[in-house]
Amino acid sequence: MVKVGKNVPVQKGKTYTVEIENLNHLGEGVGRIEGFAVFTPYVLPGEKAEIRINEVKKNFAIGELQEIVETASERITPRCPVFYKCGGCQTQHMAYEAQLNFKTQVVKEAVRRIGKLEEVPVHPAIGMDNPWYYRNKVQMPLGLKEGKVVAGFYAPGTHDIVDTDICYIQHEKLVKIMQWLKEKILEHHISIYNEETSKGLLRHVLLRIGFNTDDIMVVFITNGRKFPQGQLLAEQLQKEFPQIISIMQNINTKRTNVIMGDETILLGGQDSITEELAGIRYKISPRSFFQVNTKQAEVLFAKALGYAGLTGGETVLDAYCGTGSISLMLAQKAKKVYGIEVIGAAIKDAWENAKENGIENVEFIEGKTEEELPCLVKQGIHMDVAVVDPPRKGCDKIVLETFAKMNVPRIVYVSCNPSSLARDLAYLTEMGYELQEVQPVDMFPATGHVECCALIERK
Ligand SMILES: C[S@@+](CC[C@H](N)C(=O)[O-])C[C@H]1O[C@@H](n2cnc3c(N)ncnc32)[C@H](O)[C@@H]1O
Repeated sequence: MVKVGKNVPVQKGKTYTVEIENLNHLGEGVGRIEGFAVFTPYVLPGEKAEIRINEVKKNFAIGELQEIVETASERITPRCPVFYKCGGCQTQHMAYEAQLNFKTQVVKEAVRRIGKLEEVPVHPAIGMDNPWYYRNKVQMPLGLKEGKVVAGFYAPGTHDIVDTDICYIQHEKLVKIMQWLKEKILEHHISIYNEETSKGLLRHVLLRIGFNTDDIMVVFITNGRKFPQGQLLAEQLQKEFPQIISIMQNINTKRTNVIMGDETILLGGQDSITEELAGIRYKISPRSFFQVNTKQAEVLFAKALGYAGLTGGETVLDAYCGTGSISLMLAQKAKKVYGIEVIGAAIKDAWENAKENGIENVEFIEGKTEEELPCLVKQGIHMDVAVVDPPRKGCDKIVLETFAKMNVPRIVYVSCNPSSLARDLAYLTEMGYELQEVQPVDMFPATGHVECCALIERK
């Protein structure tokens, strides 16, 4: 337990008037009480607010907004009625322009503070013309409240489902399907999983849509194999929503926060859907990663492709390649592309995607980048360009060290976490690389998440 020093000028449970100076990387307002930092969601720089202290840590406190005393011009009324309760969005109270500025700032700060890189061109974040209804994937836990089936995001810091029948960041068709399903689940007396007792069948529902194809997938994640109502429900779903071409059951009996289990069974239609990006068709299976914002993925990948600067003769690495979304775009402009990905199902999809699109100059390798890349080096393969798009924790050190050892002249780093990007940039700089520029792209409007693409070159 952290001991709170006697000199801490704030007390848990007390309310203070605080002037907000800036935002932290989560989009929370940062203010100071006698120099002591207080982080509070839903307040903006330039505002004065009544803030109740909910938690006091060694170096900072966490506050809860009680009342705005002075309002910033960037404040707008959130569109969603459950915004302040639901954990799905964090920045609906900011005008969109202010959200974009915040995201640009987060990247700049991380590069400067963690990456120790001054004067690096971080361009303004590229936003969406219409920053709503952009998610192509909905993944919701289910619960039972007062005899009703509820589905939604968890309230921040809890496992309480905030039920809602509208969501402005998800594709409208997926919202409608979820509404319909909640009624049907009740009608079919399908039991709902209870986290505390581990009893009950249905844990989550996952919905995916191809924005450019209109294909829809429904996946029921169940706590066990027996799902007697599954077939009938699948038939009803397809009848009601003919765009649903894939209905699956995924079995997860573990007491875990990980949503999907290892086994997936077909209930109706086919086992995947297709999405199209920049003229390439991608097969998507229930467990494979695919960017959740199709429109902005096109923008992000175009940027990555531009940074790769291919002329047709290059050998390129696409590390953490998922279903090969970036690999296939690179392959159209390179001599050869190697994609590495740890999830077997995604690699299977990647091979099929290459075949489906008639792309032959790619090779996909199943395994961890940190283990497979050194094997490629041992085979004497040299990379002219390396593209990486790692998960939130960033790249393994071995991967970055291998780039330096291979003397890869150009690295394109796609990142969903500015902090781990900045840490990796610092390490690459130590090893003789130079950051050229960073382009944030807003893949997740109304939330605190930031995505960006960086170009790094050998000095
Ligand atoms: C952010 S996603 C990028 C996927 C792909 N570039 C795309 O845009 O569709 C990160 C991917 O890295 C994979 N992954 C996680 N750890 C890995 C590792 N150590 N080696 C290879 N792939 C890994 C994940 O399964 C996921 O598909």
